Amino acid sequence: MLLLTATALAQLPPTDAAGHPWWQHAVFYEIYPRSFADSNHDGVGDLNGITAHLDYLQQLGIDAIWITPCYPSPQVDFGYDVSDYRNIDPQYGTLADFDHLAAEAKKRGIRIIMDYVLNHTSDQHPWFLDSRSSRAAAHRDWYVWRDQPNNWQSLFGGPAWEFDHKTGQFYLHQFYVQQPDLNWSNPAVKQAMFDVTRFWYERGVAGFRLDAVDRLFETYRDNPVKTNADGSKEIEDVYTREQPGEHEVLRELRQLSDQYHAVLIGETWTDDTAGLLKYYGNGKELQLPMDFNFATVNKLSAAEFRKQIGLVESACDQTVWLGSPTRVGQPSCIAWPVFLLSNHDMQRGYNRYGDGKHNDQIARMMAALLLTLRGTPLLYYGEEIGMENNDPTRVEDVKDPVGRREWPRNKGRDGERTPMQWNSGANAGFSEAQPWLPVPPSYQSHNVALEEKAANSVLAFYQQLLKLRRETPALIEGNYVALNTTDPNVLSFAREYGNRAVLVALNMSSAPQSVAYPLAAYSPRMKTLLSAEGRGQSLRRVELQPFGVFIAELAKKKN
Ligand code: NOJ
Repeated sequence: MLLLTATALAQLPPTDAAGHPWWQHAVFYEIYPRSFADSNHDGVGDLNGITAHLDYLQQLGIDAIWITPCYPSPQVDFGYDVSDYRNIDPQYGTLADFDHLAAEAKKRGIRIIMDYVLNHTSDQHPWFLDSRSSRAAAHRDWYVWRDQPNNWQSLFGGPAWEFDHKTGQFYLHQFYVQQPDLNWSNPAVKQAMFDVTRFWYERGVAGFRLDAVDRLFETYRDNPVKTNADGSKEIEDVYTREQPGEHEVLRELRQLSDQYHAVLIGETWTDDTAGLLKYYGNGKELQLPMDFNFATVNKLSAAEFRKQIGLVESACDQTVWLGSPTRVGQPSCIAWPVFLLSNHDMQRGYNRYGDGKHNDQIARMMAALLLTLRGTPLLYYGEEIGMENNDPTRVEDVKDPVGRREWPRNKGRDGERTPMQWNSGANAGFSEAQPWLPVPPSYQSHNVALEEKAANSVLAFYQQLLKLRRETPALIEGNYVALNTTDPNVLSFAREYGNRAVLVALNMSSAPQSVAYPLAAYSPRMKTLLSAEGRGQSLRRVELQPFGVFIAELAKKKN
């Protein structure tokens, strides 16, 4: 049965018509399974819920879904504490449900990306239960044990070392106490974890998102302590991330994934081009390292977005190009960017960029940015309908442990993980039972059913953009050329492709703007492809209302 499934699933083409790897031109969509759709009405989303909504995703134009961890887990970190890498948590369904989801997704040309939580397991994983049972246990060396703790801190607060009374040593946990770090220096760990990827590839998954991949190795030395301007002390993250050993693991993981034409997406958090380039490893490591360029931009600023795009684009200038020329002789760069506006760990883009007055316009404008850049876009569920954060207002309601611990300074991540808003009915159509997190009141105005019928909705604009993207080679393969680079209000760029280009103009300000583009090589007349409160017929004058969008096609002048 398993083999049959695997063979059936292996058939989605590894390259597109132009000969590029499938993941380069795909649109990815992140699903937080607890919150997407609840098929058995227990208040928690599940795999059958996802299957039931595949038609929606297909119609939207999604090519791959990344499902955050759905393996058996005590759910301390909502799945990022895995207790069995080769099964499905009963809350979410069964392996048979997974196979069904995969088969149904494949019928619709949608691939599945799993979350690979490789830095740590749950403290309830049999490997750790054995490891902590005695110093002589077979799995003792599968985790990081020391006689003495050092000054390392957990990313979720407090020391990164936990004393284990039974065996009299400390174990390392860079995240919650219940998430002991695996010891990747141990070849047995590596072997067992590589086998996990094989298990899922054979089941038909098309890749992995690699959780906390920069933390696999550590060098056992105190991290430096720096004094901030206000006199406060801060322990710097030096010996706990990007330590020797990591890239070798990535190269080997890639060798394996290549056998399955699978993609590796990294949670890499780099902050400069050089750092990002290391993860591409000259085409031998991650295909899609996420530098979270936009996550660091917390308010609308044309200059800031221009800078962040420039950082990623310059990675491209510094790498080799993939050999295969496309139809019009435009090769693709190995440093293929991945762009996202939000995810399950950060405030939704709708709130980060919204000004409270023009939120839908801004959501449309940000969608236009995400879907017209050179690179693979990654949507977070609900972004396409303008879902907003619903942060808890009382500490007793908080589910995310970090929010309880750091309340009220940090309210945790519940706000961005609320149930998908399917319709205006009870619980936004997510479940007949009380959802595990409350649905924000905005579901009355922002939900799929309503927005599918409204021509001017955020969803309708996403649909139009995704269609335009699919049908416009320049938007997929064209080179990125920054335009009007000193304009503080309007972010403009062209996607050049052979003798054509697509112009994208995004007004990031709350005032109307009028812009001109001195592009001598192109005919001044242009053809509007898509706009939202923006218009123009000639390169000499494009008018944009507050947060307006204008996308047009340009043709090169004939010599
Ligand atoms: C990053 C994940 O995105 C986050 O949700 C999780 O808490 C940590 N890694 C630990 O696995």
